[in-house]
Amino acid sequence: MRKVFVVGGGGYIGSHMVKQLVQAGHQVVVGDNFSTGFRDAISGASIIEVDIGDQGALDDLFSTQEFDAVIHFASFIQVGESVLDPAKYYGNNLAASLALLRAMVKAGILNFVFSSTAAVYGNPVYVPIDEEHPKAPINPYGLSKWMVEQILRDFERAYGLKSAVLRYFNAAGADPEGCLGERHEPETHLIPLILQAASGRRKAITVFGRDYDTPDGTCIRDYVHVTDLVQAHARALDYLWAGNDSAVFNLGNGAGFSVQEVIETARRVTGREFAVSEAPRRSGDPARLVADSRRARETLGWRPIYPDLETIIKHAWQWELRALPK
Ligand code: UFG
Repeated sequence: MRKVFVVGGGGYIGSHMVKQLVQAGHQVVVGDNFSTGFRDAISGASIIEVDIGDQGALDDLFSTQEFDAVIHFASFIQVGESVLDPAKYYGNNLAASLALLRAMVKAGILNFVFSSTAAVYGNPVYVPIDEEHPKAPINPYGLSKWMVEQILRDFERAYGLKSAVLRYFNAAGADPEGCLGERHEPETHLIPLILQAASGRRKAITVFGRDYDTPDGTCIRDYVHVTDLVQAHARALDYLWAGNDSAVFNLGNGAGFSVQEVIETARRVTGREFAVSEAPRRSGDPARLVADSRRARETLGWRPIYPDLETIIKHAWQWELRALPK
């Protein structure tokens, strides 16, 4: 049993992580400022309401409790918002992450798992995208993550801080047992929006652009089940605890689905009809993002349990049905 500090454990992916760590028998402490996360998504862990930008508070915490690792999920994730309000993104995703890393080094906590993103690659120059693909983020969100990745390289060299950087493609789905799911406010992600249209919570789903250079003209993404994502984090922890060097891993299934295919799959899974409306391209959306995740499979032994889109949507649908007003 190890003791893990999960920053952002009240969020979508963080809360699934907490559940899996607790089930594996670890002692978990969640640090969250609850700006976007939810207390009631956390169970089996102790909760500390803290802003990770507050290094003094973290120094106090780390001087009274020892941790074997920190997992950092606490970031803002809306690409469009990051363009309109970069200060918010550099403030939280970059500056607050730096405060967390400084507090960790000061306390001698030297194992770190970091949530990064496919947005570090910008517009892909080849697909599937491996970890060596050029990094050219096209928005402050992606750049804030890429900057933290670079800080981590320097922190390893200077302070011996070991990190596993996990670059997610499109996190989706929900806890198969139905306890947890995606709860962003406002929701901007494709699958929950489609399912809200299917359940009647929303009038329609809007397709952003049908003029991409893809077979049906809509954007292609690599959807990866949240339970599989957190399983990769658990493996990354074991990898660091085994004394391995820092590493970066893409997390995706290696299969791309278009927006149109996601809509059709959701119709099949839910058995519901819903309206689809059309809108121009959303700015900053690459046509195709698909992961080459061989490194995670080979080095971490990562094996996604729910790689197919139907299951991902089925679990998200169970969660959407639970979220409906009774
Ligand atoms: N889309 C629509 N209609 C909607 C919402 C989305 O057509 O109402 C389309 C988007 O244009 C995109 C696809 O569905 O082509 C997926 O969009 P999401 O917003 O669900 O996800 P993104 O691919 O934009 O973003 C995700 C993460 C980001 C991360 C990015 C990196 O949410 O945090 O992947 O790949 F930066």
